[in-house]
Amino acid sequence: MDGVNSDLVTRPITKRTVLGQVFVCSGCCCGRTDKGKPSIPVDWLKKSWKERRLLKSVQLTITGCLGPCDILNVVSIWTQDRQIWFGGITTDAPYEDLLEWAESTRKLGEPAPIPESLLEHQFERFCG
Ligand code: FES
Repeated sequence: MDGVNSDLVTRPITKRTVLGQVFVCSGCCCGRTDKGKPSIPVDWLKKSWKERRLLKSVQLTITGCLGPCDILNVVSIWTQDRQIWFGGITTDAPYEDLLEWAESTRKLGEPAPIPESLLEHQFERFCG
């Protein structure tokens, strides 16, 4: 960077490292029942995550539009090694399994295997 002495730049370090982060889209299309789209159990997810004290192990982020609106109800799991995208979720079961995945990850101390009900919804987010 111009004008910046790289010797003086320190890398940021967070004390809030996690095993994974889950993004649940609740944007302009996902979960918009007022537009006739399938619902997302956002309040249940937040309450359950909190009750099970999962946030220190797996961050839950309810987010605005993640991009692929043509695949409704998008979820993404990010871990140190990978990111996995899911969509087209029209029932609560995959969200329940998402919660169980987070719980298993916390117990294992590493990313747990992805539940089959979520793998059925996996898609490729990036081209090339
Ligand atoms: S609103 Fe969810 S991907 Fe756009």
